[in-house]
Amino acid sequence: MLILGIETSCDDTGAAVFHTQQGLLVHKLHSQVELHQRYGGVVPELAARDHIQKLLPLINDVLDRVQVKPKQLDGIAYTAGPGLAGALLVGAAVGRSLAFSLSIPAIGVHHMEGHLLSPMLEDQSPDFPFLALLVSGGHTQLVDVQQPGQYQLLGESLDDAVGEAFDKTAKLLGLGYPGGPKVAAAAKMGNPNRFHFPRPMTDRPGLDFSFSGLKTHTLETARAHDLTSQTVADIAWAFQDAAVDTLLIKARRALEQTGHHEFVVAGGVGANQLLRVRLKELADELDREVFYPRPEFCTDNGAMIAYAGALRLSAEESADPRFAVHPRWSLEDLNPIAK
Ligand code: KG4
Ligand code: ZN
Repeated sequence: MLILGIETSCDDTGAAVFHTQQGLLVHKLHSQVELHQRYGGVVPELAARDHIQKLLPLINDVLDRVQVKPKQLDGIAYTAGPGLAGALLVGAAVGRSLAFSLSIPAIGVHHMEGHLLSPMLEDQSPDFPFLALLVSGGHTQLVDVQQPGQYQLLGESLDDAVGEAFDKTAKLLGLGYPGGPKVAAAAKMGNPNRFHFPRPMTDRPGLDFSFSGLKTHTLETARAHDLTSQTVADIAWAFQDAAVDTLLIKARRALEQTGHHEFVVAGGVGANQLLRVRLKELADELDREVFYPRPEFCTDNGAMIAYAGALRLSAEESADPRFAVHPRWSLEDLNPIAK
């Protein structure tokens, strides 16, 4: 099966073509970073309008690159949620209309299922069951993955997502948007011995997270100091160290609790080098195996949507023909994918 994948849930327009036997043929991304930069964060209305302008040319571009004609496609997968309603509607309307005009099935994919399955796009991919640590701008979750589509939420953030905490830290340090890569870059120059930030909720049992206290601590530290470039770097270092350590403490607990031998990390914050290095050390220490997508597949992309959609469409699923979107949508509401 030849599947077109479309991603428009937030500030990246993504398109990809995935073949169920040959794998990923092509993927392309249009980032809206420049558009939102001057506002210090994503402006939902501008995001939706930009998706309208960029999506069709992007789809034409990926199809051209692999010389696939629309009529050769067997199905279309688009992100149906969670995400920004207006942005999601663009992908859903385009995906469904195109599928209707070609008389092929279309399917609305859960964005976090896309992230969760993205390590399957790599040569080294995990076997089911496994543990997933999902870390993005909107979610921080530990998920027990029994099989594709069968997800049990073990813990999640009770307030800010870890990516959101990176973004807010970058903003208050004057580093700009998007925050994650900027904080990570600033932290490289940081002095590890100057500040030590709290690891929220790690002294309590359970697998839930909370990042708002860390954010407040960061804010108070920033307010109490003159923000020279060295102090910015030192705060960025302490914040990143605390955020990564918090994820690690809970990941260790979840691995011990589930006994899973394999685990994956996915979502935008999964591109963070410190997190990748420390998770590998944790895996080695516990004699487990960690899998991550390449950094460009950690952040939003069309490839993961094409892959998740291809799995579901091969199982002959197709969504309700209305182009409904689900800005809030739990992974646990999904159905297992039939083999
Ligand atoms: O998965 P993603 O692209 O979009 C959502 O589904 O939210 O994740 C975006 C988040 C942003 O908060 C961004 O700051 C963060 O991922 N991020 C990073 C890094 N690259 C992106 N956080 C830390 N370090 C990075 N290198
Ligand atoms: Zn995402």
